[in-house]
Amino acid sequence: MSLSDTVGPDAPDPYELLSWYAEMGVTEALDETPRNHFADPAPAGNNGQPRLRPLPGRPTPPARPMAAAATAPDDATLSAKALAREARTLDELRTALAGFEGCALKATAKNLVFADGNPEGRVMMVGEAPGADEDRIGLPFVGRSGQLLDRMLAAIGLSRKEDVYIANLLPWRPPGNRTPTPQEVAICLPFIQRQIELADPDILVCVGGPSAQGLLGFTGILRSRGKWVEYDTGARRIQAIATLHPAYLLRRPLDKRLAWRDLRSLKAALDPKS
Ligand code: URA
Repeated sequence: MSLSDTVGPDAPDPYELLSWYAEMGVTEALDETPRNHFADPAPAGNNGQPRLRPLPGRPTPPARPMAAAATAPDDATLSAKALAREARTLDELRTALAGFEGCALKATAKNLVFADGNPEGRVMMVGEAPGADEDRIGLPFVGRSGQLLDRMLAAIGLSRKEDVYIANLLPWRPPGNRTPTPQEVAICLPFIQRQIELADPDILVCVGGPSAQGLLGFTGILRSRGKWVEYDTGARRIQAIATLHPAYLLRRPLDKRLAWRDLRSLKAALDPKS
């Protein structure tokens, strides 16, 4: 349905339309035509702030600073690297991320989604980015795919609470769950790399293609999953493996057998005598 179908004598009831959108999983109101907000010149005489048109009978809302979008991507990556390097603990890293204005995703996200599980665990899992549930709650993997991930871990005797530390390549939800852009990944990468270094797990598991590509340089998750490689945390070399994302497995349950192989391989790496 396009915007033009929502006006006129045959227009649907707005409440029903909104309910239908919600049921279909539409969670963001986007314009019909794409706009490059980075390319928009600052309106003259407005001090670089966006021009806001007041709604009839309402006062003009105060302009929000455009810090996230105003930082050039290269500057943002440099600043992310410096901030990540300065953080000496996971708490300091979370604080640094919370104050970081270089990634535009922060402006549309409800919460920073930093990590869950046990930072002392031997395994660290890194997913792609928060979805709607994670964004609302502020924790990674709490929606349907998170529940499947917990069941997968339980199948090899691991629990999120005790054995596994969980984070994402990107700590903010991309609007509408779209795939993160390479620029967004590049900007956020220094933070997740530092998070891995500070958590210092024995084994890194990249969950899904974007995480495997961003952290291990893998392309094609179906081809690269299940292969053990070395990952240099900056402090030491650890073992790393990529596996299929639970959201993919929910759509393609037959491929759970591939994920099961990866999980058994993870179990064997953790406990070679078992
Ligand atoms: N998918 C991810 O990759 N991460 C989450 O936290 C939730 C869903």
